[in-house]
Amino acid sequence: MQIYLKKCIVRGIIDIMKKSITTNSEAETISEGEKFGRTLNPGAVVALYGGLGAGKTAFTRGLAMGLDIKMPVSSPTFTIVNEYPGKIPLFHFDMYRLDSENELFDIGWEDYLERDGVCAVEWSEKVSGAFPPDTIKVHLESRGDNVRNITMEVLV
Ligand SMILES: Nc1ncnc2c1ncn2[C@@H]1O[C@H](COP(=O)(O)OP(=O)(O)O)[C@@H](O)[C@H]1O
Ligand SMILES: [Mg+2]
Repeated sequence: MQIYLKKCIVRGIIDIMKKSITTNSEAETISEGEKFGRTLNPGAVVALYGGLGAGKTAFTRGLAMGLDIKMPVSSPTFTIVNEYPGKIPLFHFDMYRLDSENELFDIGWEDYLERDGVCAVEWSEKVSGAFPPDTIKVHLESRGDNVRNITMEVLV
């Protein structure tokens, strides 16, 4: 596993680093998601980018573990959003089946943003205009077989 720390981006008063890692198994991606999840505060919005099978759901499964959520996380492809209660609740979105950003109003997107949980969003490409400015971006990319490259923003 490689770790590179890229140059610091200053966005408002918060410094953001980009961390790039390579995982070689689903378990490793889950473990990285868990470490990442532990760094999140209530109100955090995490935009996940990457194609089918890139590991977005696996990463979110770990992220939930990092929030101490015990319920098993499954893909919300057909329901658009699944809610997991916890000290910091998780709202797990999958925008794959969303036809337009307008449908976000129907599912109560803006209410979720106000609810002091963590919003983790799969297929963020489909709703790029919907994210608040302090959204944390995570890009996942398959490099074949069991290899995945994950580039995530981390607050420093
Ligand atoms: N390094 C890896 N990280 C994550 N998933 C992996 C990895 N290697 C193989 N896989 C497999 O890729 C698939 C990822 O699925 P999933 O997390 O549902 O992707 P997505 O939500 O991006 O469509 C799973 O079948 C998993 O077993
Ligand atoms: Mg998925």
